[in-house]
This record gives sequence, C-alpha cells and structure tokens, in this order.
Amino acid sequence: MEIPADLGRVLVIIPTYNERDNIERIAARVREAVPSVDLLVVDDASPDGTGEVADAMAADDEQIKVLHRAGKDGLGPAYIAGFRWAAERGYDVMVEMDADGSHQPEELPRLLTALQDADLVIGARWVPGGKVRNWPKRREALSRGANTYARLMLGIPLHDSTGGYRAFRAATLDKIGLDGVDSRGYCFQIDLALRALRRGLLVVEVPITFVERVHGTSKMSRDVMMEAAVRITQWGMAARVRRARARRLERARR
Ligand code: GDD
Ligand code: MN
Repeated sequence: MEIPADLGRVLVIIPTYNERDNIERIAARVREAVPSVDLLVVDDASPDGTGEVADAMAADDEQIKVLHRAGKDGLGPAYIAGFRWAAERGYDVMVEMDADGSHQPEELPRLLTALQDADLVIGARWVPGGKVRNWPKRREALSRGANTYARLMLGIPLHDSTGGYRAFRAATLDKIGLDGVDSRGYCFQIDLALRALRRGLLVVEVPITFVERVHGTSKMSRDVMMEAAVRITQWGMAARVRRARARRLERARR
C-alpha cells in the first residue's frame, strides 16, 4: 500500500524477546503491507534464538536490519537504542510495533496518514472504532484501568497512552530528548506521550484493532505493572506540587 511520500524515510522498529515463532511472520507482513519502509529488529539476546532468525532474514533482505543487545533490559531501553540507530541513519519517521502480531502492519498506512498532521500518532484501542480481539478480560480490565488512572492522574487527553503501536516524527523525538528517559517497562509509552504533550506537541489517537498473540507469551509482569503504577503516581503528584507552587508565587506577586 502507498504511504504519504512527504513523510520521508520510515523505519519500523520491532523489539523482541523470545519471539522466534512470530518474527518471520510479522516481518513478512510489514514488507508486504508497506514495501517502502525499512525494518529494524531490536533483540535482547533472546534465549530462544530470535536474534539468529532475524539475522537470517536480514541476510536475505537489505531492508531488514538487526540490532543485538547484551541481555533483557526492558522495552524502553530497547526502543531508545532503536530510535538512536534510526536517527544516526537519517530516518524521518520511527514506528513502534510489537513482534507478536498484536499490531497489524496492514493498519500502518492509516497511522502514517494521520502523522501528516501530527507530531505523534498512537494506535488506540480504547477509543470509538478501536477493538481488541482475543484479549483475556483480565488483561483488558488492566489496560483500561491503567489508562483511566493515567488520564486522570496526569490530566492528559489520551485514552490509550500505554498503547505500543505508534509513529513518531524524528523531530518529535529530538524535541522530547531521550537522554532523561529512564522508564524501562510499558510505562515507557506513557512517559513519551506525556513528554510530547508537555512540550506542546500534537498527539493524535487513531483507532486500531489489537489482536492477541497466538505464539509465545507476554512479557507483562508484576514489576512492569508496579513500575507503571509508581511512576504515574509520582509524575501526577509532582505536577500537582508544581502547580500549587506556581499558584502561591502568583498570589504573592499580587
Ligand atoms: N528487546 C526487548 N526487550 N523486547 C521486549 C522486552 C525487552 O525487555 N520486553 C518486551 N519486549 C517486546 C516483545 O517481544 C514484543 O515484541 C513487544 O515488546 C511487546 O511485548 P508483549 O509482551 O507482547 O506485550 P503485551 O502484549 O503484554 O503488551 C501490549 O500492551 C501493553 C500495554 O498496553 C503491548 O502493546 C505493549 O506495547 C503495551 O505497552
Ligand atoms: Mn503482546
């Protein structure tokens, strides 16, 4: 499918940890759905050999590259490494996509079209038109709950700030500045969305259909959940303190 040419060079970044049974299928779907975009697999030395499978794919297709990292270090650091790799090579748009088929490459042209009038596009489940297929009720409740908490606690107008199917302009990542980002797990997604909004950038949600994986297992864990809960609370409280201080200063000046 055609994607807007004026966006420039697009790189899809796929982080992997034990995705041996998924990586070939997702790569083939990306190449088929949007042949002009390049693909970078960021593998954290998966014990199941995902990195070697990716290397074999890269040997056959010059639009596929692999970044090998020393060990499992979380989604955030993997994406930051991928973003840096892309910036060094002059890509104009960086796309985040899960390896397990939950994010459908066939929907990427819609995300990229929306990016023509936005700084960051988030593929969203919890908006009108958004759907999830085969997700356990428990996971759906967790995701909806986390998103509601983030929206209220942070005062952000997003309905799927944890969503991991996204398109960033390279300039957006430049403005956000990745040096201070130390979120490791899925709260990395909220972190970047919040930073973009606080810099006054335009963040747009477009509905997607999220399809639960068939092969392999989720890397969601108690630690990932705790990190998100603690950080959302910290960010929200810090913002409240800042606002209260600003109000006090304002009153003192009058
Ligand atoms: N390199 C690397 N290192 N990749 C990782 C790591 C890591 O430490 N942890 C997870 N991944 C990769 C997985 O291999 C997969 O490709 C992708 O990141 C998403 O991980 P999943 O384990 O499939 O996530 P999920 O299905 O539980 O969570 C989904 O929902 C979250 C909350 O809404 C994803 O869409 C997340 O992006 C989203 O934040
Ligand atoms: Mn998944």
